[in-house]
Amino acid sequence: MLARVTRPTAADDPLRVFLSWYDHAVASGVKEPDAVTLATVGAGGAPRARVVLYKGVSAERLTFYTNYESAKGRELAADPRAALAFHWRELARQVRVEGRAERLPPEESDAYFATRPRVAQLGAHASLQSRPLPARQVFAERMAELEERFRDRAVPRPEGWGGYALTAERWELWIGHEYRLHERYEYVRAGDAWSFVLLYP
Ligand SMILES: Cc1cc2nc3c(=O)[nH]c(=O)nc-3n(C[C@H](O)[C@H](O)[C@H](O)COP(=O)(O)O)c2cc1C
Repeated sequence: MLARVTRPTAADDPLRVFLSWYDHAVASGVKEPDAVTLATVGAGGAPRARVVLYKGVSAERLTFYTNYESAKGRELAADPRAALAFHWRELARQVRVEGRAERLPPEESDAYFATRPRVAQLGAHASLQSRPLPARQVFAERMAELEERFRDRAVPRPEGWGGYALTAERWELWIGHEYRLHERYEYVRAGDAWSFVLLYP
C-alpha cells in the first residue's frame, strides 16, 4: 500500500499530525489502527506494557478505557506516567506518545459506556480485571447473574470502569524506510509550545 505521508514540521501541532496520520490509517484500511501499546510504571519502577484501544481525543488528550482496579489502573493511580505506541504496519509508521494519564470526568465515561454493546457492558461488571479467576466457568456464572440482574433495563457504568486521557509531554512520529534509513520527528513540550527536532533512526 502506498502511503501519502504528511511530514511533520516545526510549525505543526503534533496532535494534529497524529490525527491526520490516524485518519489516513483508517482510510487506508490498516487493520486495528486503534490498537495501541500502553506502558505504565509498575511496582518498584519496572515497566509494564499491554495493548488497549485508542478511543479518540478529549480536551487535546488521547483517551482509552479500562477497569480502574485492573493492574494498569492501580499502576496509574500510584504513578500517572504512561506511554503509548501505535504501529501501523501497512503504512510503515509508528507514533509514540509519552506523558501523564488521568481519569476522564465520569460523565464522559458514562457517555462512552452507553455506546458499548450490551454484552460488553455486562462484561465490564462481571470482570474483576487482572484478579485471579478460579475457573472460566466462574466468569460465565457471573455473566449469567448480571444478565438476570439487569434484565429489561439499561446497564449502568460500573464505578470502577472508565476512561483515561493522556496529556502528552513528548511525541515521536516515525516513518519507516528500506535498509533502516527511517525518519524520526520528535516534539517535546516546552511551556506552551513544542520544541521540534529530527532524530537519527
Ligand atoms: C487488540 C487488543 C485491544 C485491547 N483493548 C483493551 C482496552 O481497550 N481496554 C482494556 O482494559 N484492555 C484491553 N485489552 C486487554 C489488555 O491488553 C490487557 O490484557 C488487560 O487490560 C489487562 O491488563 P492489566 O492487567 O495490565 O491491567 C486489549 C487487548 C488487545 C490484544
